[in-house]
Amino acid sequence: MIIGSSVSHYEKVSSTNTVAAALLREAKPPEGTVITASFQEGGRGQAGNVWESEPGSNLLMSVILYPVMVKPWEQFIICQMISLAVHDLVRLHTADATIKWPNDIYVRDDKIAGILIENSIMGDRLGSTVAGIGLNVNQTLFRGDAPNPVSLATVTGTHHDLPLLTGQLIKLIDLRYAMVSGGESAILQQEYHDQLYRRGEWHCYLDKGGRFEGLIERVMPDGMLVVRKKTGKRSEYAFKEIDYIL
Ligand code: BTN
Repeated sequence: MIIGSSVSHYEKVSSTNTVAAALLREAKPPEGTVITASFQEGGRGQAGNVWESEPGSNLLMSVILYPVMVKPWEQFIICQMISLAVHDLVRLHTADATIKWPNDIYVRDDKIAGILIENSIMGDRLGSTVAGIGLNVNQTLFRGDAPNPVSLATVTGTHHDLPLLTGQLIKLIDLRYAMVSGGESAILQQEYHDQLYRRGEWHCYLDKGGRFEGLIERVMPDGMLVVRKKTGKRSEYAFKEIDYIL
């Protein structure tokens, strides 16, 4: 197993991604090094957002990878494989889990997990990746301004064992990462599409042209989202160029 070759747990950190980035700067930690924490004082989300997580309640993890087999223009495969691994874990507890493009995990219309991938590029390859995962597990009250948080506890009505979930997630990431290393990207892309939130359904969205009804057709290998409008016109979106109306 590559993932979990070294696992360090901290009671309190600024952000597990920041700790992992510092480790990368100082030395070359073994591939698969995992950092977990009970609490983050400065948990980071996508697009500069804050990641809210009350002390001791949730899974907060960063994994260090060296995906030298991935070219910079293929880097979305890392988002896809981590999303699938977290989705695999949530799916053990509820059948209603999906992946909301680009890499949120949803249960029905609520967000249960977020992923923050930070890649560095070396020449024509990915040099290193810090994959940060925040899975809401036992928190039942959310005070931040995230619109639709949910946790495993609220979905299943039971308390969950964090060390057990951490161990399971490490194994699932290892399986999914082996697919990237083993040249199985096409299968990962297919599975990502199979689990994609709202794919093939008409729903409301907002882009720079205003509100519209659209149907998600697919996600391009570079991560762009393809949405068809009622007029038949297709548009491609980068992250933050389209809002889902929930
Ligand atoms: C998102 O905005 O959806 C991404 C959230 C990612 C949160 C995780 S928690 C562990 C890791 N450390 C961080 O500071 N962020 C990621």
